Amino acid sequence: MARSFTGARPLPLPHRAQRFAIVGWNFLVVYLRYKRVQKNKKLTPEERARAYSREHQRNAERIYRTAARLEGLLIKTCQFISSRADVAPPEYVAVLSRLQDQVPTRPFAQIEDQIERELGRRPDELFATFSRKPVASASLAQVHRATTHEGRDVAVKVQYPGIERTVETDLQNLSLLVRLLARIEKNYDFRWLMDEVCKYTPRELDFVMEGQSAERVAKDLRHRSDIHIPAVLWEYTARRVLVTDFVKGIKISDIPRLLEAGIDPNQVALIMTEAYCEQILVHGFFHADPHPGNLLVLPGPRVVFIDFGLSKDLPEGFRVNYARLTMAIMQQDDQGMADAFRALGFRTKSDDPQSLIALGRSFFEAAGPEAKPYVDADVMPEVNERLSRILTENPVTAIPPDILMIFRVIGLMSGLQKRLDSTVSMFDTIGPYAREQAEKHGRLPAGEAAG
Ligand SMILES: Nc1ncnc2c1ncn2[C@@H]1O[C@H](COP(=O)(O)OP(=O)(O)OP(=O)(O)O)[C@@H](O)[C@H]1O
Ligand SMILES: [Mg+2]
Repeated sequence: MARSFTGARPLPLPHRAQRFAIVGWNFLVVYLRYKRVQKNKKLTPEERARAYSREHQRNAERIYRTAARLEGLLIKTCQFISSRADVAPPEYVAVLSRLQDQVPTRPFAQIEDQIERELGRRPDELFATFSRKPVASASLAQVHRATTHEGRDVAVKVQYPGIERTVETDLQNLSLLVRLLARIEKNYDFRWLMDEVCKYTPRELDFVMEGQSAERVAKDLRHRSDIHIPAVLWEYTARRVLVTDFVKGIKISDIPRLLEAGIDPNQVALIMTEAYCEQILVHGFFHADPHPGNLLVLPGPRVVFIDFGLSKDLPEGFRVNYARLTMAIMQQDDQGMADAFRALGFRTKSDDPQSLIALGRSFFEAAGPEAKPYVDADVMPEVNERLSRILTENPVTAIPPDILMIFRVIGLMSGLQKRLDSTVSMFDTIGPYAREQAEKHGRLPAGEAAG
C-alpha cells in the first residue's frame, strides 16, 4: 500500500500513470530540442545563441501549457524557475511568470460550492459584495475580492476543489522517481529532500495553519512599520477558505509600476533582505515561498508578505548553528565553515573538510568579483565546475532536511534581487544579524553534534 502524504486518496492508477507519461514525454521533447542545437557543429556563435533563444521560447511555452493543464506540483516547479531571473533564461522567466498569479481559473460554480461546503453558506449570503471574476490565481487556490457586511475589503482565497488528490498523486510520482534515481545513481540520492517536501506540501493545503503562520510572522515583525502582513478574518476561514484584508499593492517584480509610484526598488530589496534575516536568524520561523506572486509593495515603501502556506519552523539549535555558518562564510573562515556545517548535520564520505569548505566558499564565489547580492550568471559555470570536482572526490553523504527551505529562500531571494537590480550589500545587511546570534550563543565547540 503506497504511503499517503496529504491524507487524500491519490488519483486512480491510470490517471497517475498518465500524468507521469505526459511529464516524461514533454521532458524528452525539451531535452531532444536542446540536444539538436548542441550537436549542430555548423552554427556560428551568434547563430547558436539565436537558436538557443528560440528553443528557450518554444520549450518554455510547452512547459507552460503542460503545467497549466496538469496543475499541482508542476505549477510550483514552474513558479520556482520563473523566479530565478538570476540564473534562468529570460524566455523562461517571461513565459512561466504567468503561473505565479495567473493560472487558468475554475468556473465560479465550483468556487461557490467549495465556499458553501467549507463555511456553510454561499458567497452572496456571506458577503455584501463578491466578485465572480477572480483577481488572481496560483497553484492551489484562486482569490476573489469581496466586501463583508461591515464594509471590510477582503481577499477570499478558495482552494481548487480536488487539488488535494492531484498533489497527492504528484507526491507519489515524484517520490517514486527519487527512489528510482537513488537506486540507479548513488550520487543523486535526493531522498532527504523528498522527506521534507512530503512533510511540508500537505500543510499548504490547510488554510487554518496558513492563517496561524501569517499571524506568527506578523507578531514577530510587528516592530517594522515597513513590513505588512494582511490580517486574517477567522470567522470566514476554514481548511479550504482563507479570508484576509485585501491589499492593493504592486507586484514586487513589476519594476515599471514601482518606479511610476515613486518607489525605489533598491529600498524594497533592502527591506525584503532584512525581513528574511530577522525571520530566519532571529526568530527561526519564516515565510518560505518568496516568489514574486507572494510579495506586494505599498507606498512607503512597505513590503507585503502574502501566502504563508509554506512556512518553516527551525529547531533552536539549528537556527544558532546556521547563524554561525553564515558568520563563518562572511568572514571566509574555512575551519569555522566546516565546523558549522558539521554541527548542522552535514556529513561527507571522508573526514577531509575540503568539500564543506568548497561548499561554503561557493556562496561568496557565486556573487562574482563585484560581490553582487545575487548569483552572477557569468561566474556560475566555473563555480559549479570547481565545486562538483571537489564533491566527486569526497561526496556529501548527509544533508539536514531543515536546510532545504533556507536554500529555497536563498534561491528565490537571489532571483528577486536580480529583478530589482539590487545593490544591497549582503555583507553589511546580513552580517549584524548573524554576528549577534552567533555571539549570543558562544563559540562553537569543535565537532559539536547536530543542533
Ligand atoms: N490579501 C490579499 N490581497 C491582495 N491580493 C491577494 C491577497 N491574497 C492573495 N492575493 C493574490 O492572490 C494570489 C494567489 O494567492 P496565494 O498566493 O495565497 O495562493 P496559492 O495558490 O497558495 O499560491 P502559491 O502558488 O504561491 O502557493 C496571490 O499571488 C496574490 O496575487
Ligand atoms: Mg502564492
